[in-house]
Amino acid sequence: MLLSLVLHTYSMRYVLPAAVMLGTAPTYILAWLGWRLFSFFLPGTRLYREVDDRFYTIYQSMVLFFFENYTGVQVKLYGDLPKHKENIIYLSNHQCTVDWIIADILAVRQNALGHVRYVLKNGLKWLPLYGWYFSQHGGIYVKRSSRFNEMEMRNKLENQMDSDTPMYLVIFPEGTRYNPELTKVISASQIYAAEQGLPVLKHVLTPRIKATYVAFDCMKNYLDAIYDVTVAYEGTVDQMGKRKEAPSMAEFLCKECPKVHIHVDRIDKKDVPEDLSSMRRWLHDRFEIKDKLMREFYDSSDPQNRNKFPGKCVDSKLSLKKTLPSLLFLGGLTASMLMTEAGRKLYVKTWIYGTVIGCLLVSFKV
Ligand SMILES: *[C@@H]1O[C@H](CO)[C@@H](O)[C@H](O)[C@H]1NC(C)=O
Repeated sequence: MLLSLVLHTYSMRYVLPAAVMLGTAPTYILAWLGWRLFSFFLPGTRLYREVDDRFYTIYQSMVLFFFENYTGVQVKLYGDLPKHKENIIYLSNHQCTVDWIIADILAVRQNALGHVRYVLKNGLKWLPLYGWYFSQHGGIYVKRSSRFNEMEMRNKLENQMDSDTPMYLVIFPEGTRYNPELTKVISASQIYAAEQGLPVLKHVLTPRIKATYVAFDCMKNYLDAIYDVTVAYEGTVDQMGKRKEAPSMAEFLCKECPKVHIHVDRIDKKDVPEDLSSMRRWLHDRFEIKDKLMREFYDSSDPQNRNKFPGKCVDSKLSLKKTLPSLLFLGGLTASMLMTEAGRKLYVKTWIYGTVIGCLLVSFKV
């Protein structure tokens, strides 16, 4: 009885953060919408984007409060750790939705949190409230392989470059998550690599070139670098030492991942080949490097070397000053809205109409 109560409370640990993160969404969307409408009276889109990035910084700092301070996760950084803002494409292996937050974890340490924009799977555009907003914030929804709309992606990136939008563009080239339990997905990906005459990878899927190529080709004069990021969640092995599925956001918030290891290679843009076929080979080489890092992490013959990447490791703790003010601000704003009858009505309407209208707008690519 007591045990089940304890277990129950334990698994409920994600309820509070989820309630706050979702609960503040209507407040955020309303404030942003006000600014969006006002900005139609302003010349150009530059100021709109600057303020939008600040808004986004506030929301995501609050998110980071939960993912870093609340979970108490230890962030272990390896490799190149750029301190300053720059325009980049961020290429990462993909295992779970927490990977989105890892991009925030790195960006906030460079004061670039507001500039994080994602290349996302098309289906995610239907997420209530968030789906449409992500696209307004510079996110790009893409469909798979032959249905990939290259022109649309180029147009979107060009618009952003025209208004000098700082770019922290996150791409997961595997196109889907690596889940060790989905052996069919993994073997299909390995067979594809073998057919193409490429080395077969074990801990990551064979990367797809399309989004990375289009993004780089379109922005090569605008970018400073590519960050090649490899992420490993500690504790994702079973008793036999075999790799298991990475934590979901809810599991992560239940403090199920005590340490996250992040390896960054900063690649200057001049070192990235420009034509499609060399770039495809280059991207595969980068994923071979990731695969090697992951093998060290999971399979190293010396147990001393397991659960870490090779090389120097820096423990990185985020100051509460970067996250707490945003939590208090958004939380306070939402609470004061919910205290009045009219506020509560507006709040509920924002959820309902925001979701419906957001879905309509995003389906018409507005
Ligand atoms: C979270 O914030 C509290 C309050 O300042 C602090 O004592 C604690 O060390 C922080 N935890 C982490 C993991 O940063």
